Amino acid sequence: MSHEILKALGLTGEQSGTYLGNGEWSKTTNAGTLQPLNPATNEVIGTVYASSAADYDIIVKRAQEAFKAWRTTPAPRRGEAVRLCGEALRKHKDALGSLVALEMGKIKPEGDGEVQEMIDIADFAVGQSRMLYGYTMHSERPGHRMYEQYQPLGLVGIISAFNFPVAVWAWNAMLAAICGDICIWKPSPKTPLSAIATMKICNEALQEGGFPDLFFLFNDAGTELSQAFVDDHRVPLISFTGSTKVGRMVGEHVAKRMGRSLLELGGNNAIIVDESADLKLAIPAIVFGAVGTAGQRCTTTRRLFVHESILSEVTDKLVAAYKQVEGKIGDPTLATTLMGPLNSKEAVSAYLAAVEKAKASGGKVLTGGAALADRKGNFVLPTIITGLNNADEVVQTETFAPILYVMPFKTLDQAIDLQNSVPQGLSSSIFTQNLKAAEQYLSAAGSDCGIANVNIGTSGAEIGGAFGGEKETGGGRESGSDAWKVYMRRQTNTINYSDALPLAQGIKFDL
Ligand code: UN1
Repeated sequence: MSHEILKALGLTGEQSGTYLGNGEWSKTTNAGTLQPLNPATNEVIGTVYASSAADYDIIVKRAQEAFKAWRTTPAPRRGEAVRLCGEALRKHKDALGSLVALEMGKIKPEGDGEVQEMIDIADFAVGQSRMLYGYTMHSERPGHRMYEQYQPLGLVGIISAFNFPVAVWAWNAMLAAICGDICIWKPSPKTPLSAIATMKICNEALQEGGFPDLFFLFNDAGTELSQAFVDDHRVPLISFTGSTKVGRMVGEHVAKRMGRSLLELGGNNAIIVDESADLKLAIPAIVFGAVGTAGQRCTTTRRLFVHESILSEVTDKLVAAYKQVEGKIGDPTLATTLMGPLNSKEAVSAYLAAVEKAKASGGKVLTGGAALADRKGNFVLPTIITGLNNADEVVQTETFAPILYVMPFKTLDQAIDLQNSVPQGLSSSIFTQNLKAAEQYLSAAGSDCGIANVNIGTSGAEIGGAFGGEKETGGGRESGSDAWKVYMRRQTNTINYSDALPLAQGIKFDL
């Protein structure tokens, strides 16, 4: 099965993890290897040669060269390049979606969905390429015109995480490309094959279309090259998706060199279910949000606040739904599977440690709470825990696994306060049929998260909106709305078409 998936994407044998441009993959074999494991079996899927410091240097130099030409290519023409990438991804959606499922461990429809997000952002970027708008302003001086324009920024570094091994790259790269930038990608060491396949698909489409290299790739066997990347002043923007712990370091290093960083870090997303909520909507949304991708989305629902009057009704329904999911845990590449494995053995340990910690803090496991030790892969049961306080350390911490902490509330004010009382601020939602409650939730005194929804869950955001969150989530925004602006440098221009030189603020400087 795994062989078939790799073959469909031309990935047989050992792979170079370094795309050097000009259709050339590095021949380096002495910089270490990456051996991604199939999370469903813990067997090695393939071998990828990591990049050397010399490879990295070639990439940066070639990217700098490419930028010189790309920055003056008209933006709608740049959009044409992205359109070709989107079309190539459409053709390979099934194969790439399967590879994502195989290597990351998410179920096939979610793997396909991830590729669909890449296609969607490509379409979005094509349109955006004709809309890189700046404002025009009225000058306070006669015979003067003022406007602002957005210019290409340069090299964009993208460091992505295992849980969205390809879509996160596309949200950044498709927009950066239409903005006139050149991208260098360092994927997660757990999912290098998905990255290599993506590079092949997009770069071949660009070459066939007569476009230059816009997308480079390197893989790091350790962390040395990645650190050099983050510190590299030739890369003005680093877009990082991953843990708050690593993101904090990335942010500090980039800030030290006055670079720009776009951080997409941890979430601790909550759903509030009030007494008026339509449970026909709420229950499936909670289950998808908490169990989807085996709890490994940064938008995964981790906390659930339920009005005390319906607490037992909601938990009973959830436990029944979780039992159904339990029967459909398995190989993520099979169509019947609802929940795949966790990505790694370490993730299973973190899941078990969180369950133990929750119990030690007085938590009661309503369902789940154990790993499926009889299987080879990293399978765990989706878990619901009650009896904890929002302030408990385990509840305050993002554990990248399907664990849902359910807590009661009395008033909406209290529920909003509890929801916001965590270090993270990514996604949030309320289920209510009460207009006042919904509006209060979306008001300035409501949810403090980057994403706040009504009657839909916390995960599965569309690409058209700006994606990201506040507080320890890092503050970055990518994907839709005006997120493209981070990939450009902003310039204010004043033109004097008069015969005088009036100074601003009415200053006289008589010579
Ligand atoms: C992530 O988990 O890193 O909203 C991103 C969602 C997806 C993106 C998740 N569109 O669930």
